[in-house]
Parts: sequence; C-alpha cells; structure tokens
Amino acid sequence: MLIELENTIKIYNQGKPNEVIALKGIDLEIEDNTMICFQGASGSGKSTLLAIIGCVFPPTSGRASIAGKKLSRMPDRFLTIHRREKIGFIFQQFNLLPRLSVLDNITLPLLPLGISPHERKTRARKLMNQLSISHKENFPAAQISGGEMQRVAIARALINNQPIILADEPTAHLDSALSIEFMQIMVDLKESGKTVIIASHDSLVSEHPAIDKIINIKDGRIHVP
Ligand SMILES: Nc1ncnc2c1ncn2[C@@H]1O[C@H](COP(=O)(O)OP(=O)(O)O)[C@@H](O)[C@H]1O
Ligand SMILES: [Mg+2]
Repeated sequence: MLIELENTIKIYNQGKPNEVIALKGIDLEIEDNTMICFQGASGSGKSTLLAIIGCVFPPTSGRASIAGKKLSRMPDRFLTIHRREKIGFIFQQFNLLPRLSVLDNITLPLLPLGISPHERKTRARKLMNQLSISHKENFPAAQISGGEMQRVAIARALINNQPIILADEPTAHLDSALSIEFMQIMVDLKESGKTVIIASHDSLVSEHPAIDKIINIKDGRIHVP
C-alpha cells in the first residue's frame, strides 16, 4: 500500500488553551496509481490530512506510512528528505516567486539537492514542454496569466519526479475552463503512473470521471454516508 494511515490523530497546540483536534482518528489506505478526492466542509481537516500525507509534519499519534516509510518518530530532517523525494505539492495560491523567471521557479526545489544547472534546465524544459509553457521560460512569474501560473506551479511540483502528487483546493481561483484543463493534467499524471490526491469541494473535481474514490471528511473523521 502506498499510503496507510491507522488511527491518525493531529492536535494543533496540544495542551494549550488554543488546542485544536484537527484529525480525530483517520484510518485510510490509498493504493498506488489512483486518483482520490478529499471532500468536506471548510475546517473539516482536509488540509491537515494532506499535510500528513505530504510529510509536512508527522501525526500527533497513530500510524502513518507513506511510500514505504513510517512517519511517526521520524526526525524532521528525514521527513524533509522523504517529502522531497516522494511528494509533489500543488498549492492553491501557487506560491511562485514573482520576480524569478518561470524556469527558475520550476527548478527551485532542485537547488538543495546539488543537481547541476544543466540537468535542472533539461528537466524543467521537458516539463515546460509537456505543460505548454515553454514560450514563457524567461518571463518573470508576475507577468504570466493565472492559467500559466497554475501550470508553472504544477511543473515545480513535478520537477523531482515524485510518485505522489497532492493538490489543496487547486481550482478555487480558476475559472471552469482552466479547472477542466487542470483536471486533464491530473489525469495525464495518473496515466503516467502517479498517485494524485486532491482536496476540493469543486464538483468539477469530485465528479470527474477519472476520480477513483471520494473520501468524505467531517469534523476530523472519515464520514461514510
Ligand atoms: N496551523 C494550525 N494551527 C492551529 N489550528 C489549525 C492549523 N491549521 C488548521 N487548524 C485547525 O484545524 C482544523 C482543520 O483545519 P484544516 O485541516 O485546514 O481543514 P480544511 O482544509 O478542511 O478547511 C480547523 O479547525 C482549523 O482551524
Ligand atoms: Mg484546507
């Protein structure tokens, strides 16, 4: 199993007055090469669940095994390495650096890995080509359209050829044409063998025919209707 969570609990600010129990015991198995949608109201715990799967932080308690490694008790440094190798994260706000070029934004995650500039460029150009943004290679990220920014964010998430792609509310700022285009890119990724997990309450995402499974999150738990 690619992703396995067992009674996973996440508590923010544990023991403090502002304590929040965001995940209250999640059991979840996700197979390799599937496309999953996390659905649920705002505050239900979708982003927290993505963060645990994405190795951003370990669960407060319970077991989480992601791409062959157990997260619990994994030191931060190893969690970071595991995240870089296994997880591509697409953020809702794109998180591009506005003054850097498209090319430099895409290759940013490779900087800490000691990969040569030539190899960085080769990898980025392949992705830019696949995502039809090659013509914007040298443009500052601030000077491209919203749809192009989305594709740059996707290219950056894919640059290390990670097997798991996570997207948090990716279509929230896109019109329906761009949302459909985004989903087509996700379908292509799945067809190339990746596992894609999207947190979204957009029906263009959840009702997409390529989604293998919808997981409903309600108040920190998986809700089975
Ligand atoms: N960094 C944080 N610190 C404290 N509480 C948080 C933090 N992130 C999320 N929460 C809380 O955890 C709960 C789940 O949030 P989240 O996972 O963001 O839900 P969703 O993505 O479904 O909107 C909410 O009550 C939210 O306020
Ligand atoms: Mg969220």
